[in-house]
Amino acid sequence: MKIVETPTEAYAHTDHWRREGLRIGLIPTMGALHAGHLSLAERSRQECDITVVTIFVNPTQFGPQEDFGRYPRTLQEDLLQLKQLGVDMVFTPPRERMYPEGFSSSVQPPAIAEPLEGVRRPGHYQGVVTIVLKLFQIVPATIAYFGQKDYQQLAVIRHMANDLNVPIRIEGCETVREPDGLAMSSRNRYLSPEKRHAALGLWKALSHVKAEAANGQTAIATLEKQMETILYDAGVDRIDYARIVDRDSLADLTLLDRPAVALIAAHVGPTRLIDNLVLDD
Ligand code: PAJ
Repeated sequence: MKIVETPTEAYAHTDHWRREGLRIGLIPTMGALHAGHLSLAERSRQECDITVVTIFVNPTQFGPQEDFGRYPRTLQEDLLQLKQLGVDMVFTPPRERMYPEGFSSSVQPPAIAEPLEGVRRPGHYQGVVTIVLKLFQIVPATIAYFGQKDYQQLAVIRHMANDLNVPIRIEGCETVREPDGLAMSSRNRYLSPEKRHAALGLWKALSHVKAEAANGQTAIATLEKQMETILYDAGVDRIDYARIVDRDSLADLTLLDRPAVALIAAHVGPTRLIDNLVLDD
């Protein structure tokens, strides 16, 4: 497995594989890898000839009050896991290789970045689309894999790639969960046993509204209220949002009369967690 730290070297290897006509799968991550990340790499291993994983904790997508400084960094363990999976190249640049002195450009995120996370984390998606477009240029892959765990992020990246004619296919992959339903996340390792229990509230709230919707409840306000009650009962400290919106546009709905998705962002202690569930048509 090649471990590469400079954009020039990463591009050179990718370009070589492309010239050989190989299909290249790209999985951008911020490291602290878990089974969710690994499922993306496994899918690429099945569908592509070459699998490239990037590990970079991107400072520009964290707000000033957010957890950039204490975001978990477990590079040696990450590399071991990726090697065992048969990953071909890991691109893990130091910060100054991605944002050298004088760096000043950025990508304006598409409109679908505005609601939900866009309201709660101003500037976050600008940081995400800028780094993702940079990674797409450095590793011009055939397919890039992203998790549905970050539902709005996937939509934002799809729109950016489409708007800017990026010649890479974007694939969304199912959320990998713990046996009790908690979505796997690098931030789960912050949770104390008590907070781990509260965190399960996200999955309880999402699966409850999915069942209610399947039973014919169509009033969005009622369903959103139920999610809030379940979250607070589980011991969540603060809810950023618990919403049901149009599955494709993320626009507000009053009635569940079209494909929709329920999305939650909530704080348990110092940890901010997000999760979502698509409601059946
Ligand atoms: P990170 O949070 O490390 O996630 C990397 C990829 O793994 C994302 O596509 C994310 O949706 C996916 N992922 C995370 N948890 C998952 C789970 N439980 N099941 C399935 N997929 C999961 O998302 C980012 O990094 C960054 O914003 C990034 C795109 C790398 C840009 O910096």
